[in-house]
Amino acid sequence: MQKFIVNGGRRLRGELALQGSKNSALPIMAASLLCGEDCVLKNCPELTDVYAASRILNCVGCKCSFSDNTAVISSGEITANTIPEELMREMRSSIIFLGAMLGRTGECTVCCPGGCELGPRPIDMHLAALRKMGTDIKESYGRIICRVPEKAHGARISLPFPSVGATENIILFAVTAEGETVINNAAREPEICDLCGFLRCCGAEISGDGESSIVIRGKEKLHGCEYSIMPDRIAGATYLCMAAATKGEIILTNACVDAMEPFLSVLEQTGCSIYTAEKRIFLRSGARLKAVNDRIRTMPHPGFPTDAQAVLMAALVTAEGTSVFEENIFDCRYRHTDALVKMGADVQVLGKIAVIKGVNRLYGANVEATDLRGGAAVTAAALAAEGVTEISSISHIDRGYERLEDAVSRLGGSIKRVYTNSTSTC
Ligand code: EPU
Repeated sequence: MQKFIVNGGRRLRGELALQGSKNSALPIMAASLLCGEDCVLKNCPELTDVYAASRILNCVGCKCSFSDNTAVISSGEITANTIPEELMREMRSSIIFLGAMLGRTGECTVCCPGGCELGPRPIDMHLAALRKMGTDIKESYGRIICRVPEKAHGARISLPFPSVGATENIILFAVTAEGETVINNAAREPEICDLCGFLRCCGAEISGDGESSIVIRGKEKLHGCEYSIMPDRIAGATYLCMAAATKGEIILTNACVDAMEPFLSVLEQTGCSIYTAEKRIFLRSGARLKAVNDRIRTMPHPGFPTDAQAVLMAALVTAEGTSVFEENIFDCRYRHTDALVKMGADVQVLGKIAVIKGVNRLYGANVEATDLRGGAAVTAAALAAEGVTEISSISHIDRGYERLEDAVSRLGGSIKRVYTNSTSTC
């Protein structure tokens, strides 16, 4: 068990190069299964979720190695078509391996990913689309047994909601299926465009990504390639919120400015000065932040991202005035609010609404990281608080942030990772 010990009250200042995107790296790693040759992924973040994805790849016969944020994946031979339950449960998004496995081998057995810390995570849209494209799917005792009896074929699919994972799974299955697939009401997230960019480098024919209708023309075979994963817009939002909450001044480099625009336009309403130039974002937050007047509604891209809701909330708990969030993507994404309240925040949650009345100051406390983004939010609040905060369950944070404590320390924050049964830092 590891914890963060944060000594709050220091302004974050300095320059930070953003890590590669977790939510791009995972589907791109799954996509590499389709190539049958080596894929070299640069700017690949070294995170526990990425390592979980590499264990899935290794388990089905691929070889996956990492060095200096470069992953090399060899998928010449696939030796298994079942993803064991313990690997499926390590990471909810392991379901995106299903489309790629089916595309490569025509067979795959996975287990139901079930719920997670964000609430129920159904996969009905994924399965309905795969069925429509020629997959037989049987569910038995929690296992999902999928088989493509003949050749997979393209289809016209209209998603009831622009699900990121379902859009990715359909793309991964469609790139080697026979004929044309059209996805209507597709997710438009930048990570979808990054996945399609990678697949195009491997020889796939895809158009319309980034818009609501994506068209894929299946190819017999894909090949390996070298590709650089996009920067992580949510890690970017997190470090900007940490700087805003501590009245700091930072420059993010290797940033994806356009992809972050829906977040930046809301953060700017808190009174921070934000300037962007190619791949760089500068933020200065000298005075007390102002509450955001309009309700902050999380929506699919290009709306305000649900993954940035918690970290922005951490900055707004000490803002002047009242801010209101409406969480529209996940049922259970306010679990970090208990920790914020324990630190002195005034937050009321009712269903999908959270009302934040800005307080003058936060105080250090013993709190828990309840989930990945909630854990990052609690860390942001701890950096702004008076005194010492101990944050437990930080394995959630390690799923998505590459050595968060190193990044924060580089910016002048006081944060240490400690093992709970020893006092040594690591
Ligand atoms: N949904 C269904 N049925 C489905 C699929 C989704 O009802 O078949 C529902 C979900 O339960 C949820 C909503 O649709 O309420 C959105 O889910 P979506 O499929 O879009 O999300 P996801 O693919 O499971 C990805 C990211 C999440 C991010 C969401 C929304 C990855 C690996 N995960 O999840 O990232 O919050 O899209 O943008 O890309 C995170 O990084 O912290 C994280 C949770």
